[in-house]
Amino acid sequence: MSEGRIVKVSGPLVVARGLANPKMYDLVKVGENLLMGEIIELRGDFASIQVYEETSGLGPGDQVIDTGQPLSVELGPGLLSSIYDGVQRPLDVIRDKYGNYVTRGVEEPGLDRARRWHFVPKVKKGDRVVAGDILGEVEETTVITHRVMVPPGMEGTVLQIQEGEFTVEEEVAVISTSSGERPVTMLQRWPVRKARPYIEKWAPHQPLVTGQRIVDTFFPIAKGGTACVPGPFGSGKTVLQHAIAKWADSQVVVFVGCGERGNEMTDVLLEFPELTDPYSGEPLLKRTILVANTSNMPVAAREASVYTGITLAEYYRDMGYNVTLQADSTSRWAEALREISGRLEEMPGEEGYPAYLGTRLAAFYERSGKVICLGSDNREGSVSVIGSVSPPGGDLSEPVTQATLRVVKVFWGLEDRLAFARHFPAINWLNSYSLYLDKTEDYWRDEVDPVFPDLRKEAMAILQREAELLEIARLVGVEALSPQERLIMESAKSIREDFLQQNAFDDADAFTSLRKQFLLLRLIISFHRWAQDELEKGKDIQELIAAPIREDIARAKFIPEDQLHRFDDLEKRIREEIVPVRAEVPSENRGT
Ligand SMILES: Nc1ncnc2c1ncn2[C@@H]1O[C@H](COP(=O)(O)OP(=O)(O)O)[C@@H](O)[C@H]1O
Ligand SMILES: [Mg+2]
Repeated sequence: MSEGRIVKVSGPLVVARGLANPKMYDLVKVGENLLMGEIIELRGDFASIQVYEETSGLGPGDQVIDTGQPLSVELGPGLLSSIYDGVQRPLDVIRDKYGNYVTRGVEEPGLDRARRWHFVPKVKKGDRVVAGDILGEVEETTVITHRVMVPPGMEGTVLQIQEGEFTVEEEVAVISTSSGERPVTMLQRWPVRKARPYIEKWAPHQPLVTGQRIVDTFFPIAKGGTACVPGPFGSGKTVLQHAIAKWADSQVVVFVGCGERGNEMTDVLLEFPELTDPYSGEPLLKRTILVANTSNMPVAAREASVYTGITLAEYYRDMGYNVTLQADSTSRWAEALREISGRLEEMPGEEGYPAYLGTRLAAFYERSGKVICLGSDNREGSVSVIGSVSPPGGDLSEPVTQATLRVVKVFWGLEDRLAFARHFPAINWLNSYSLYLDKTEDYWRDEVDPVFPDLRKEAMAILQREAELLEIARLVGVEALSPQERLIMESAKSIREDFLQQNAFDDADAFTSLRKQFLLLRLIISFHRWAQDELEKGKDIQELIAAPIREDIARAKFIPEDQLHRFDDLEKRIREEIVPVRAEVPSENRGT
């Protein structure tokens, strides 16, 4: 620890001099209230410090203490269900103790010190263990088992370990290492700006099943992958993020919220805890950690929040879980970066964002991935990262969106045009993309149905054709379209309304399994193929369009998951309704 003095205060930024041996990213305590801050620039004898709390009242001459330690988070049981600010102060605990606004200088640890957890050993005295090995387990919540691991960098022989009720600071084991006996507690610390180690990172190949049809079928994200959701205000970013948090087949969710509207984060603080986990029927919070920034919180805490969030996500990944880290919205984070950079008087890049915006964004998204976890059991875990971006005016050419698109592999472009038309999720199917498609297609082929990739291609081709035909129809009128083209338009409409549109607030529609996504798309495409056949044989387009089965197709998305056999009946009815009984042999069976 060394002490210095403030020479200048500029908003969230404080410049100090006289620190003995300051290092970049050292955690410091500023002023008599010991406000938390972090060294972000060193120039000669001067250290620039971003302060995570309101700096009013600070002035030249006030003390600054360098802890010599980097900004770190506490890891251990009790993280799940917590609601933290950007530097892991428990907002719910603080609110109960001090009222609604974070009081400056409040030091409240991330993990409850008094709570006891029932620790069950998974190794015994005399066992050899390496970093990452699971020493024991704790039932953290009714839905997630917490695995207490040998900390990175430690290995040796278990000298002592026992079952019992322990607080996070009490010794649960003693390990004899080459450098002596080392106690292990359930509480471990990790610097937030440093990625946690693993044995090996793999290219993600398995889909993260979200139950959102446009996502899973057309623009899938892989477990361990990255995606971004750019969209203007009100286009549905938060609804989509919440739907994925609820339905995706990842066990743990870390949700980093940066409020957009003045009081939006208070909404999230109120709303998120109300969400129910559809898999367990319990509150979603039991497998979630919420990192919240309201717009009245200092910008520096917002800057730190994404690192805090991803470190917590990596920790559960290390236990062998599939984790999603969702940030809503990263634009608010980038703005914090811009503000601090401005105060440092750095050379501004595009639109005032610092030149390192892209590098920072990349470094954050690169902490995603599917890994073989540290430890000797070869368990796998993953962190998928999904970030919303709110480009001002929906302009995708702005720097944050552009820098994000350079690093993420999936782009779900939300548009207000679609949201106004109540087409939800308002994802533009023509310009969105997923670079995981090739890899996840194998999974669909093997696990769902071999013809799925072809169905998907055909559906996308119909949608693209529709866009061209709309252009023609706009210029010369719908009458100019041939019956075949009219059918394309009808089928595209069916794909959009009966498949892509999905109501996040309707119990029957909110989630669709991969199997049902396949059956639903097959139904729509079957109708299209049979109708195409009949058109060629001279049937009237109006008659085809008016077939009663089309109403059933429109309702098929509401067929419950346990009644999927009804899709077979519908497939049969398509033929019965639109294919007349002919004297000659019927055309080939279309895979129904
Ligand atoms: N999948 C959806 N199903 C039904 N309504 C939706 C859906 N997505 C968005 N909405 C509607 O759009 C509104 C705005 O969405 P929101 O996620 O708050 O936008 P953003 O976060 O982009 O500002 C929601 O309140 C809701 O009424
Ligand atoms: Mg929002």
